Amino acid sequence: METGFKMHRIALINMKGGCGKTTIATSLAAYYASVGLKSSLTDYDSQGSSLDWLKHRDIDKPTIYGIDAYNRNKATTLSWQLRPPADTQVSIIDTPAGLNLEVLRKIIEQSDTLLIPVMPSAIDIQAAVRFIEILLIQGKARAKGKNIGIIANRIHSRTLAYQTLKKFIARLDIPLIARFRGVQCYIHAIDKGIGIHESTEKQAFRELYQWDKLIRWLDQCNPHKAHPHPSPSVANKLQGDLERRDDKPLAAHKLTHEQPADKSQAGK
Ligand SMILES: Nc1ncnc2c1ncn2[C@@H]1O[C@H](COP(=O)(O)OP(=O)(O)OP(=O)(O)O)[C@@H](O)[C@H]1O
Ligand SMILES: [Mg+2]
Repeated sequence: METGFKMHRIALINMKGGCGKTTIATSLAAYYASVGLKSSLTDYDSQGSSLDWLKHRDIDKPTIYGIDAYNRNKATTLSWQLRPPADTQVSIIDTPAGLNLEVLRKIIEQSDTLLIPVMPSAIDIQAAVRFIEILLIQGKARAKGKNIGIIANRIHSRTLAYQTLKKFIARLDIPLIARFRGVQCYIHAIDKGIGIHESTEKQAFRELYQWDKLIRWLDQCNPHKAHPHPSPSVANKLQGDLERRDDKPLAAHKLTHEQPADKSQAGK
């Protein structure tokens, strides 16, 4: 991919499948397009889930340029095939599970910022430990000056699994940028070809405070600093208050293994 463009290249990576790479990549691309930035979405996955999402996207929604990085187009060079349009400002890269080292290195090279979604289960945490080791040691992501952040995805705040994930992240020298709840609106958004900011579901609205944190962090990582994110809306601030209420001191709550202690959260 051409590196001379004034764009921020953001990759969603984790060798573990099903942790939310495509869900977050598509919502990010939709968000940037909706605030008027030229956005592209590159799909390295043979399943083509991001490009499928794009196909479901209504024509009247803000445009996102899709790039198929998996199926090689023999009529052109690889670098041309992977090249977003020249005026692209944000390039989102969705990657598959089980990346091999060669492709991982290529994606690190082609990105400014690496986002690692991790789900709060023992298996996912162990897989994340292994992946981050590979990313830092063999991929030399930090040595190459890449921004690296973790997203806790599909969490239920007051579960033991989430507390274990938080402890694991605290031990790493990688920031936890945002935490998204396990809620149906993400699944619905994928089905409809929309991003979480475009969803009218109440659950989606409650997620926006965490998305705002992610987007602010990404703004700081933007190597060109050319397109600052609009300041958060009053609505988002209200959502922040709601979120903080969810963050009541843990000692006050009985921790459970997987089910949220707050029954009102169950099944959301
Ligand atoms: N925060 C969330 N809440 C509820 N469901 C979610 C959330 N994030 C992702 N999902 C769902 O989890 C499943 C896996 O998510 P997704 O496809 O984004 O993961 P992935 O990392 O891209 O998977 P793969 O490695 O197979 O490409 C999907 O059905 C998606 O709708
Ligand atoms: Mg995927």
